[in-house]
Amino acid sequence: MDYKIDFNEPMPQMIERLKKEHVLLLPILDEVENSSKGDPQQAIALLRKLKVTILRHAVEEEARVMRVIMEKEKSDSASSVKVMQEHRWVSEFLERRLDKLPKESPDATRDEIKKFVLDLREHFREEEDIVFPLALKALS
Ligand SMILES: [Fe+2]
Ligand SMILES: [Fe+2]
Repeated sequence: MDYKIDFNEPMPQMIERLKKEHVLLLPILDEVENSSKGDPQQAIALLRKLKVTILRHAVEEEARVMRVIMEKEKSDSASSVKVMQEHRWVSEFLERRLDKLPKESPDATRDEIKKFVLDLREHFREEEDIVFPLALKALS
C-alpha cells in the first residue's frame, strides 16, 4: 500500500500528531476488544475501518521518525529499530490475517484480536518511551 508522506511537516509537530493518533486510537482499540467479546464479526469490521489509519501512521513513523534517528542517532538506534520491526506483524495482521478471520471459529478470532490489540497498545507505549524521545534528541 502506498501512502503520501508529508516531508515538510516539522518533526516535533509530527511526533505530537503521532502521539495524538495513539491517544485517539486507544479507546477505539478498547471498543474493538469489547465488541469482540460479544460479536467477533463486529470487531473485524471495526478493525477494517482502522486499517488505513494504522498503516499510514506506521509508514510515517518509518519514513520520517526513523529516518532522523538513523541519520543522527544510529549508534543508539537498536531498540528503536526493534520497535519499528513490529510494524511487520501490524501490517501482516491488517493486510492478510484480518480477511481470513471470518472463517475462523469465534473463539480463535477473539483470541487473535485480543492479542493484536494488546500488542498494539504495548507497541504505542514503546514508541512513546523509546522511539519518539530519541528522534527528538536527534533534532536537538
Ligand atoms: Fe508504530
Ligand atoms: Fe505509533
